[in-house]
Amino acid sequence: MRMRSIVVILSIWITFISFIVNAEYCFDPNILDSRGGKVVNCALVTEIKSLLKNQNERYLKSPTQNVNMFETTLHCSSTEEICTKVKASFDLAGEILSSTIHFVEKIKVNATFKPLCEKKGHCEDEEILGSAGPIRFHPMIDDDDMVRLYPQSLVKQFQYHTHLEYSQYDIGAIFNSEAKYWFGNINNSNNNYNIGIEKNQFDFLYIILHELIHGLGFGSSWDQYYIGLITPLIINKFNGISVNIESNDNNNNYNKGKVKFVEWAFDKYVILMGNGTKVSSITQELNKFFDQSSLDNVEITQRDFEINFHNSKQYNIAKQMFDIAQTPNTIGFLSKENNNNSKEKRDLNKDIVLLETSFNPFRVASSISHIDNSLYSNTEDFLMRPIIMNGVTLQQEIINGGNYSGGPIGPKLKQILATLGYLTKDNPTFYNKPKVIDPALINISSIAVSLKNNIYYIDVVFTLLITLILHLLLQ
Ligand SMILES: *[C@@H]1O[C@H](CO)[C@@H](O)[C@H](O)[C@H]1NC(C)=O
Ligand SMILES: *[C@@H]1O[C@H](CO)[C@@H](O)[C@H](O)[C@H]1NC(C)=O
Ligand SMILES: *[C@@H]1O[C@H](CO)[C@@H](O)[C@H](O)[C@H]1NC(C)=O
Ligand SMILES: *[C@@H]1O[C@H](CO)[C@@H](O)[C@H](O)[C@H]1NC(C)=O
Ligand SMILES: *[C@@H]1O[C@H](CO)[C@@H](O)[C@H](O)[C@H]1NC(C)=O
Ligand SMILES: *[C@@H]1O[C@H](CO)[C@@H](O)[C@H](O)[C@H]1NC(C)=O
Ligand SMILES: [Zn+2]
Repeated sequence: MRMRSIVVILSIWITFISFIVNAEYCFDPNILDSRGGKVVNCALVTEIKSLLKNQNERYLKSPTQNVNMFETTLHCSSTEEICTKVKASFDLAGEILSSTIHFVEKIKVNATFKPLCEKKGHCEDEEILGSAGPIRFHPMIDDDDMVRLYPQSLVKQFQYHTHLEYSQYDIGAIFNSEAKYWFGNINNSNNNYNIGIEKNQFDFLYIILHELIHGLGFGSSWDQYYIGLITPLIINKFNGISVNIESNDNNNNYNKGKVKFVEWAFDKYVILMGNGTKVSSITQELNKFFDQSSLDNVEITQRDFEINFHNSKQYNIAKQMFDIAQTPNTIGFLSKENNNNSKEKRDLNKDIVLLETSFNPFRVASSISHIDNSLYSNTEDFLMRPIIMNGVTLQQEIINGGNYSGGPIGPKLKQILATLGYLTKDNPTFYNKPKVIDPALINISSIAVSLKNNIYYIDVVFTLLITLILHLLLQ
């Protein structure tokens, strides 16, 4: 333990912040309330990276299998025996991910293992297993000129010299110690990981892996924030603070749109299967709502927004998307082309993964943000399905999926992660590298206002749906 804390201190010491250029905004989601969060002020910082360089080169040169690039800090309220197993599972999951993805910067996980059922009288209908996700999203400008929110774990991989301030951890994870977990034989040296799971137990390693992948950015911002509609997350300025989530276009109106539907990095590749339309073009269509002149210069309240939106053309689009999201095989993720078949004609079927749209009614935080449950059962890509079975081990699922040589991270999942921008052995260069928001574009007068406080709480529009929806995985 002592060694670990020294490492943490060192990493703070060698990350010199040489100057603070300006203020900008990051989005810190609330992992306990999967669709909520707050916009925080995070400065643009320039790092003196040279001291870190040697260390990074070491990672680049030796992508050996068992280097765990995940550094997990565990807060655990169970017995020492259980806590040891929990920690070992996190470490094993980190090793598995590190053997598939070539991380060039460490991923820091703040993990908690404690009872979650006590307070709210939950866990009666549904067993809450846990939840994990990015602790901070950074707004980044993509090559299509849209600003999307990137999970910090991914932003770090790009190793920008100048970037928005990082939060201490990249991924937050909370798991319910009252759930019936099976920890397996975490000494996986003897390969009999698969023995003795009970009918009512969940394989903890399976869950951790699944959740860490959400933490790496697997998930869509499109969700049901209003009943009967789906839209991307709304970042707004209902408390009067403008949020610089706006594309860099030539008209220099960087600060014009103060309320926006904002996508996550993942959404850049999400398409409608019916006609190949990118959902990003629908997001742009929805955002035209905020361009209407009637909304200019008006301090609109959340209530005003709700009424106006209800009467808009965009409302119907969001409603239509809600129907689509409850119809099987309608929404897909179009991955980058496999390097492998670049010479031949592109086979789209190889690069498309169908996302989960068969829940009816729509399930907040499960629909769209997973791959299709029935289609990918008993395949190599089982891991990111929305439903996990009790009494089945990760190892058993790998065998059911045909003993994929890459283990639990199936080929399509790997391709999705490479498309988001992670490096893998097959994809040694960044497929996607967004731009850090240019401080020159920031309106100085609004910065002066925003520097008064450090943190702004901004309502993420979230009426009616506030229930304790952890990232639910159902029995
Ligand atoms: C890490 O998680 C714990 C427990 O959930 C929380 O109290 C703490 O504030 C978190 N630390 C940071 C730096 O986010
Ligand atoms: C794992 O293996 C080591 C060495 O073989 C042993 O000392 C340790 O007790 C084992 N741990 C568990 C939880 O089985
Ligand atoms: C694609 O399909 C969606 C949903 O059916 C529809 O709203 C949209 O207008 C279509 N786009 C084109 C270009 O046909
Ligand atoms: C690459 O191509 C070979 C031969 O065509 C094929 O066997 C293999 O599955 C392909 N790999 C991927 C990742 O598509
Ligand atoms: C899959 O692997 C298991 C364990 O290594 C082995 O027993 C089984 O025969 C393999 N199945 C196939 C289809 O290769
Ligand atoms: C900059 O922000 C101030 C205050 O928010 C606003 O009055 C002004 O019009 C903005 N300037 C530009 C160029 O957007
Ligand atoms: Zn999930």
